[in-house]
Amino acid sequence: MSAPDQEPVEGGIVAEVARMTPEERAAHEAAVAEVVAPEREIAVAVGDTLLSMEDVTMRFGGLVALDGVSFDIRRGEILGLIGPNGAGKTTCFNALTGVYRPTSGQVLLEGAPLGRRQRFQITRLGIARTFQNIRLFGEMTALENVVVGTDARHRTSVLGALVRSPRHLREEREAVEKAMALLEFVGIADRAAEKARNLPYGYQRRLEIARALATEPKLLCLDEPAAGFNPAEKDDLMGLIRSIRDDGYTVLLIEHDMRLVMGVTDRIVVLEFGRKIAEGLPAEIRENPAVIAAYLGVPDDGTA
Ligand SMILES: Nc1ncnc2c1ncn2[C@@H]1O[C@H](COP(=O)(O)OP(=O)(O)O)[C@@H](O)[C@H]1O
Ligand SMILES: [Mg+2]
Repeated sequence: MSAPDQEPVEGGIVAEVARMTPEERAAHEAAVAEVVAPEREIAVAVGDTLLSMEDVTMRFGGLVALDGVSFDIRRGEILGLIGPNGAGKTTCFNALTGVYRPTSGQVLLEGAPLGRRQRFQITRLGIARTFQNIRLFGEMTALENVVVGTDARHRTSVLGALVRSPRHLREEREAVEKAMALLEFVGIADRAAEKARNLPYGYQRRLEIARALATEPKLLCLDEPAAGFNPAEKDDLMGLIRSIRDDGYTVLLIEHDMRLVMGVTDRIVVLEFGRKIAEGLPAEIRENPAVIAAYLGVPDDGTA
């Protein structure tokens, strides 16, 4: 992953890494990779269906935000979800993360319907997301924001936490180490101790991704993670998303910028007015007349 624009903080992890010999750096990177991507069962299962949207319709009063939408997300892929403003992309995320319950149809994770599960239960099942409008705990440090994400995976009881049992203390220490590794992975470890609200915009976007990864998701959903970025920042972010996938995660990416989507996704689903109008490989989507028509007159950098 490329380094962020900021000068590394004196004594920070980034400066430390910069001073390492190639051997030290390789060992360090292996250690980070271990924490960031603990062994998963993905190797055997790449290509299996991880999540299915089955004929999902979502109505808000008279407005049909999703109209019988079906598609699968396969393990280990980056699936792009694209479409003009108001096409229903964010609504799709909301349906599959339990923010909304579909009016009809269903969402299946590893073959099991999400049904009436609450958001936190769905997080535990392994679906994490970032938001089109950044949502962080502004008064908490970057590190604390990520530690909070690891809570979804903790096993100690409330009592264990209250009496600070050895197990609780161990989990707390592990959570901090893991959070630090994640900050490093997304390239913002140099500002770990800063309040989230004081971080530059690009750092906040990356922090959201680190926090989502902290829940050890089977599926990571990113809602326009590059919104407001310049082309160089977008390229950097695509590099990060690719390295997330290479670590074995499955990624669902909403993005408005066609160039960016074409460059990073394995497959693409296109929505327009709540309907799926196309699905296929980036090269197929690029040539698809319905997609071209849907995008005509929509500037590439529009803010959907
Ligand atoms: N909670 C809601 N209540 C009413 N209408 C909504 C709600 N959420 C989304 N919509 C409508 O659903 C349509 C799709 O919105 P959205 O999923 O945000 O589109 P996109 O993310 O593709 O730009 C829009 O017309 C939007 O106004
Ligand atoms: Mg949206």
